[in-house]
Amino acid sequence: MKEIVLSGIRATGQLHLGNYYGALNKFVRMQDDYNCYFFIADLHALTTHPDPTILHANVKSILSEYLAAGIDPDKATIFVQSDVPEIPEMYLLMNMHVGIGELMRTASFKDKARKQLGIKTDNDNDDIEREIIGNNSNKRVNAGLLTYPTLMAVDILIHHATKVPVGKDQEQHLELTRRFARRFNSVYGVEYFQEPENFNFGGEAIKVPGLDGSGKMGKSEGNCIYLLDDEKTLRKKVMRAVTDEGPKVPNQPMAEPVANLFTLLKIVSAPDVVDHFTEAYNNCSIRYGDLKKQLAEDILKVTTPIRERIIGIRNDDAYLSQVVKQGAEKARESASKTLREVREIMGIKRFF
Ligand code: TRP
Repeated sequence: MKEIVLSGIRATGQLHLGNYYGALNKFVRMQDDYNCYFFIADLHALTTHPDPTILHANVKSILSEYLAAGIDPDKATIFVQSDVPEIPEMYLLMNMHVGIGELMRTASFKDKARKQLGIKTDNDNDDIEREIIGNNSNKRVNAGLLTYPTLMAVDILIHHATKVPVGKDQEQHLELTRRFARRFNSVYGVEYFQEPENFNFGGEAIKVPGLDGSGKMGKSEGNCIYLLDDEKTLRKKVMRAVTDEGPKVPNQPMAEPVANLFTLLKIVSAPDVVDHFTEAYNNCSIRYGDLKKQLAEDILKVTTPIRERIIGIRNDDAYLSQVVKQGAEKARESASKTLREVREIMGIKRFF
């Protein structure tokens, strides 16, 4: 029996190079050796109130991007979260075992709650719990946001997945998933759920930096290279990336914006290209313009074929519907079995 892998991406926008190296690329590499479930988390996207039309467009674009990146619907189960009604039902059941305190202490919750309340600081000492309870203006933190980790745990546990390829930012959610699995087992005295773990092919999780000089590439950061960016846009973005005045003395330590460009170069370019520019940096002969031109070329080598495939797939509604229909059927098969067993374990049994 192949081990079960599950991962998903929230339907909040087009995918960028960070998603590609952090997630998609791993999904593609795993699909031959594992029993894979890859889904589009549209219910999770609702926690931040997307416009309904945009939400649907986003689901469609991520689906096209999954397929364009090489996820094969005959190998992996590709589905949309909301097509599996067993997930929200099990989410209700699981919530009975989840504490609001532990949810309120989750870092991603605190971040987003601060945003929803319009609190600027991201210092960990502000009393966000008191703010949430005391706040009686029109601003509210929605309960769906609080229970985001329950829903994510259910996504994973409902398929008994043991490997969950995700970025570093999702580690805390995975930790909660393990805790909920253990708790369920111990409350009911069963060995029912297994504890899932992250998966990185034995290496460190790659963090793809943004082009704005600091931090990682992220949709909300506005520093992304999208898989769908056309050549001109992409080149322009790379050429405008933040750098510094250049090294003044040999072997000068790199400032963060420059180090970020080298990190990107290491991800997309051949080792001799990296060596060439590293040497040029170290002997102060580097011209950032050349580095950026090369970087743009090498990124385009990765993104252009994907972009062309996305464009070919995204308007093929018949194909897309067929893929998610087949995926939903497979996902529901496994999900309904788990839900039946969970209901049974919890004492919800049918009289008829
Ligand atoms: N929370 C994940 C993210 O923001 C998306 C997600 C939802 C997910 N459910 C999941 C990832 C289950 C892995 C497994 O990236």
